[in-house]
Amino acid sequence: MNYKKFIPHQISKTTKMKSTLHNKQYRQRGFGAGFIEEKIEEIRKIVNQEKAVSVLSGGVDSSTVTVLGHKALGNRLKTVFIDNGLMRENEPENIVKTFKKLKIKVEVINAKDKFFRVLKGKTDPEEKRKAITEVFYRDVFKNIVRKNKIDFLLQGTILTDIEETVAGVKRQHNVLAQIGINPQKEFGYQIIEPLIELRKDEVRKVAKLLGLPEMIYQRIPFPGPALAARVIGEVTPEKIAIVKKATAVVEKELKTSGAFQYFPVLLNDKATGVRDNKRELGNIITIRCVESTDARKAKPTKLPWKVLEKITKRLTTEIQEVNRVCYDTTPKPPATIEYI
Ligand code: XMP
Repeated sequence: MNYKKFIPHQISKTTKMKSTLHNKQYRQRGFGAGFIEEKIEEIRKIVNQEKAVSVLSGGVDSSTVTVLGHKALGNRLKTVFIDNGLMRENEPENIVKTFKKLKIKVEVINAKDKFFRVLKGKTDPEEKRKAITEVFYRDVFKNIVRKNKIDFLLQGTILTDIEETVAGVKRQHNVLAQIGINPQKEFGYQIIEPLIELRKDEVRKVAKLLGLPEMIYQRIPFPGPALAARVIGEVTPEKIAIVKKATAVVEKELKTSGAFQYFPVLLNDKATGVRDNKRELGNIITIRCVESTDARKAKPTKLPWKVLEKITKRLTTEIQEVNRVCYDTTPKPPATIEYI
C-alpha cells in the first residue's frame, strides 16, 4: 500500500484542534487536569452550537473521548455503539450499563449484516481492514450524521495509530487525514480527534482522571477491526463465533497476568486430531500474550505452564471445533501484536 508521507499540520487542518503533537510542554507537565480542560474547551469551540456524535467501542480511547465530549457538549453529544457482530461476548449490553452509571446514554446500532457482507471472500489483511473502514465511515457513520443532522464525529485516534499507519506497518481503521483522506470531502462530516498526541499509557491516565471505572481505564487494548483482526483468512459468522468464545476464556484466565494484551487468534488451516477414539479435523487457536507499555515494541509474556495447560483444556473442551492450541513466543518486532 502506498501511504502518503505523514504531515503533522494535517492533523490541525482536519480537526481544527491545536496541533500539540510531540509537544514538549505537555510531555513535561503530563496529561492532567490542564489537558482535560483544554480539550473540553477546544471541542466546544469547534462544535460551537452544532451537534456531534461519539462512536463508542468500549475501549479506553473511545470511552475517554466520549466523556470529554459529554463534558463539553452535554446533550448535544450523541453516543452510539456500533454492533458490527465482531465485538466480544455481551459487549453492547456491558457498555450500555457501564455508561448508564456515568449518566451517558448509549444507543446501540445493529450493523452486523453490513460488516459480514463486505468481509465475505476477503482474505488479505489490508483488504479486510480497508473494507471495515469503508463500512464504518462511508455507510454507518454517514447514515447516523445525516439522520441526526450532525456535523462532527468525535473519535479516539491516538499517536501510535498514526505512527503505525504512516510507517506502513498496517492501516489502522481510524487513520484518515494522515494518509490523505479528507473526511469532509469524502464522507460529508468533520472528525475531531482530541487524543491525537497521546499514547496508550497517557490515555489511561486521562481516563482515570475523568472518573472512568477501572475496568475501562485498565482495559487491555482491542483493535478497531475487532475480532476480524483475530481470524486469519476469510471472516465468517461461524469463525467469529469460535474466536468470540475463545476470547472469553483467554480474557478470564489471563485477567490477573498483568500483561499488556492477551487474546486468541483463529488460524486458517485445520489440524488432525483424535477425539473419542475418532480422527477429526479441528481448528487451531494461537494464544498471544505480550508485555509492552505503548504497543510500539512487545515481548511475549513468560506464562506459567499450568496457566497454558488450563487454557488449552478449556478451549479444547468448551469449544468442540477446536482441537489444537499453540502459544506465540514472537516479540514485536519482527511480529506485530495482532495477526492482521
Ligand atoms: P500491532 O498489531 O500493529 O498493534 O502491533 C499495536 C496496537 O494497536 C492495536 N491495533 C489497533 N487499534 N485500530 C485500533 O484502534 C486498529 O485498526 C488496530 N490495529 C491494531 C493492537 O491491538 C495493539 O494494541
